Amino acid sequence: MSAGPRAENVRAAAEALSAWFAANQRELPWRRPYAGSGFAGGMLAEAPAQSGASATTAIKTPPRRDPYRTWISEIMLQQTQVATVIGYFNRWMERFPDVDSLARAQESEVLEAWAGLGYYSRARNVLVTAREVSARGGFPSSREELLGLKGIGEYTAGAIASLAFDLPEPILDGNLVRVFSRVYGMDFLPDAKEQKAAYWDIARAWALAHKPGLVNEGLMELGALVCSPRNPACDACPLAAFCSARAAGSQDRLPPAKARKQSVDVEGYVVAAFRSGAAGLEVLLYTPGKEERLAGLLTFPIFDAGDLPGLRMAWKSALPGLASAALRPRTAIISHGITHHRYRLRVAEARLGAREGGADLPAGYTWAPAGEMHRLLVSSLPRKVWEALGPIAG
Ligand code: ADE
Repeated sequence: MSAGPRAENVRAAAEALSAWFAANQRELPWRRPYAGSGFAGGMLAEAPAQSGASATTAIKTPPRRDPYRTWISEIMLQQTQVATVIGYFNRWMERFPDVDSLARAQESEVLEAWAGLGYYSRARNVLVTAREVSARGGFPSSREELLGLKGIGEYTAGAIASLAFDLPEPILDGNLVRVFSRVYGMDFLPDAKEQKAAYWDIARAWALAHKPGLVNEGLMELGALVCSPRNPACDACPLAAFCSARAAGSQDRLPPAKARKQSVDVEGYVVAAFRSGAAGLEVLLYTPGKEERLAGLLTFPIFDAGDLPGLRMAWKSALPGLASAALRPRTAIISHGITHHRYRLRVAEARLGAREGGADLPAGYTWAPAGEMHRLLVSSLPRKVWEALGPIAG
């Protein structure tokens, strides 16, 4: 670490940052006071006094911000950008206004509200945690207890503790890494253990220096609005006087670029198999196991086959009970990217006789009513397939 504000100066820098944040923050739904907070009006620029509160003692004063809304927004913001999250967040809060209403929901309802955000294990974890929090009568405020909840890692625990309870707990996300890398002139990313520790130590110093909720969210906001990846607006930056990169003119080179994870192309077929069953038209769906691509997400079966004969062989070996099905190619091609997989799938259709293939489907496969697809399919990939199939399916 070469420069940047040292202990005595971190406080001055953190104060400059929170003054900037109070004046310049975007109005976002999770920043509004909530009905139960006891705080009226305006955005929550100033936290209530928290004298004596420490990271490990549960605080007695009301939360600065609703922990439930903080938690849901932070989890959603790990999935996608702010502009997209606003709509999801508002709909979510209409449907599940508090942790108790979420705790009472069915998993299918939760997955439906999450549909399109991706990474569905997050939505499942959210439900597990809501049930635990509701059963214990509310959110814990300490980092340690928050970390014990499913789906809550270092970042989210720090965000809830600081943004909701104003406890001096650090957070670190991509925005903060960029800001700290520039302010301190650190030409590395938090990859190795020591590198991570260097960033977390700085994050801790900032959270301890001044009002933690304001400082942490101010750092995020600075990274989003001013200290942007390209063309940072250094002239408008409240940290310009403290910034090593600004002094050295190195802001465009910091932080160093991430080594890109090689993307994997998946070429093959996705099969829509229909039969008329007890519930009318039924569709064959598959739930991939933990070690498979799209783990845990209901999808149409996907086969890594280069051509139709290859598909027919793969189909017969996966589903011997349906070996007689005639697989017919359709013109649709589904292109879709999830994590580092880039799918390019041709669509094939199979029509089976009434009740055919009901008895001994292999593990993971199931017949589901066509009319339920909108509810059952939550991942964008099978949703795209369903749309491509058009009215024949519905
Ligand atoms: N990104 C992560 N958390 C955020 C927040 N609370 N506000 C804006 N952007 C964010």
